[in-house]
Amino acid sequence: MALSTLILTFTFIILAYYLYQRFRFKLPPGPRPWPVVGNLYNIKPVRFRCFHEWSQIYGPIISVWFGSTLNVVVSNTELAKEVLKEHDQQLADRHRSRSAAKFSREGQDLIWADYGPHYVKVRKVCTLELFSPKRLEALRPIREDEVTAMVESIYKDCTNPENNEKSLLVKKYLGAVAFNNITRLAFGKRFMNSEGVIDEQGKEFKEIVANGLKLGASLAMAEHIPWLRWLFPIDEAAFAKHGARRDRLTRAIMEEHTLARQTSGAKQHFVDALLTLQEKYDLSEDTIIGLLWDMITAGMDTTAISVEWAMAELIKNPRVQQKAQEELDRVVGYERVLTEMDFSNLPYLQCIAKEALRLHPPTPLMLPHRANSNVKVGGYDIPEGSNVHVNVWAVARDTKMWKNPLEFRPERFLEEDVDMKGHDYRLLPFGAGRRVCPGAQLGINLVTSMLGHLLHHFNWAPPNGMSPEEIDMGENPGLVTYMKTPLQAVPTPRLPAELYKRVAIDI
Ligand code: HEM
Repeated sequence: MALSTLILTFTFIILAYYLYQRFRFKLPPGPRPWPVVGNLYNIKPVRFRCFHEWSQIYGPIISVWFGSTLNVVVSNTELAKEVLKEHDQQLADRHRSRSAAKFSREGQDLIWADYGPHYVKVRKVCTLELFSPKRLEALRPIREDEVTAMVESIYKDCTNPENNEKSLLVKKYLGAVAFNNITRLAFGKRFMNSEGVIDEQGKEFKEIVANGLKLGASLAMAEHIPWLRWLFPIDEAAFAKHGARRDRLTRAIMEEHTLARQTSGAKQHFVDALLTLQEKYDLSEDTIIGLLWDMITAGMDTTAISVEWAMAELIKNPRVQQKAQEELDRVVGYERVLTEMDFSNLPYLQCIAKEALRLHPPTPLMLPHRANSNVKVGGYDIPEGSNVHVNVWAVARDTKMWKNPLEFRPERFLEEDVDMKGHDYRLLPFGAGRRVCPGAQLGINLVTSMLGHLLHHFNWAPPNGMSPEEIDMGENPGLVTYMKTPLQAVPTPRLPAELYKRVAIDI
């Protein structure tokens, strides 16, 4: 009896709160929410597709209730501009899930920080110091070393007689470049030797990443329904242990750098940069550690995924593949390998990277922003505390803005040069405004370089017996969009054998 009264009272309070919100504000339309669960009961796993379908029914701005939290999703250029330009400052906070709050120590890093003095300071460190054009250039040898290592590794595997004409799992090679590039850039460490074997510190690093994902997933169930949380309590001990383990590894690496700096001076890696700048910007140790791990979280999978999608499109579109190779042969030739210096002479290659990021942005809903005050967007109210998502995937496929949007046609960017770093609201793979991705240029360079090397060195075909049309272009659910079926492909070398050697550089 007592329990049923309690449940009834609880349901009544939630219903009353929901009705109060509905009538106090003019909220965007959307699918009918149920008490307590909101729309969670009918959100399909691939969320950006589901929100797109709903936007076709309810319009380009919709309300979606995650339990009792209002999430507003906008799906066209005009509204994206309102969110990311006109109301940028009011919509620049972050929603922190319970696990994100724990991992970031309540937003002491960059990704999970709310907009405020701390955020502005850390963002300045990123813009002026970590991602400055000078540092990007200084770290170029790492990127070029890693892409040539990828080429060498693919060459070894595809010319191995045991693998004769067998397909390779493309993401294995892309993942290694992304992993090595980001750990070297952030920590100044290549945890993997030339045979692909990971050292003890690297194993610890990988275990920490995997454990973080596991801990995050363990809380996901009750994230949006607060009263269910007693069923999924935060395992404080496990989070504390995880944090301590992450700090221990990062501190050990920081100490190695402090020692090395005394003998050979500061290097360009982020860890050295942050330790050197710690006093100038008054950065706490938690912030330095948080920032280093932010780079891993945000910079590792995004680049590898973008290239995997691009390669799938290139295999499905042999015409584009061939045209890119003709450009590479003309500009780079058959006697040397591509470098980033060649990019300005390879417009078609750059258009391919852009077209892939248009059709397959690795974070299709960006990261959710949170309203720090009541805001009006598209004539509707967005109450303080709601989350706002820009469906950049839908924006970049809008038939009102793009001609034949579903077609993979890089030429569209030769005909009209559309910016993709936050200045043109039709194309927003990196977001825009205050929270635009600080690693955008680095990401673009790495994606373009990986694509350029893959195309210059190899011809790519689907696995034997499979036609290009049969490649599964479905997406996996999640904040970051992996291919549902990892791409398998058959590479065939097309350059002289001496051009397939890694050019190892130790910086
Ligand atoms: C193709 C590659 C990449 C794509 C498509 C991408 C995309 C994005 C997007 C959409 C956001 C969210 C923007 C927002 O909330 O409005 C973001 C944030 C961020 N990205 Fe990237 N990113 C890429 C590569 C990188 C790389 C290589 C790094 C660093 C090494 C990086 C670091 C970050 C950080 C630190 C944030 C958080 C910014 C903030 O909250 O202020 N990203 N990225």
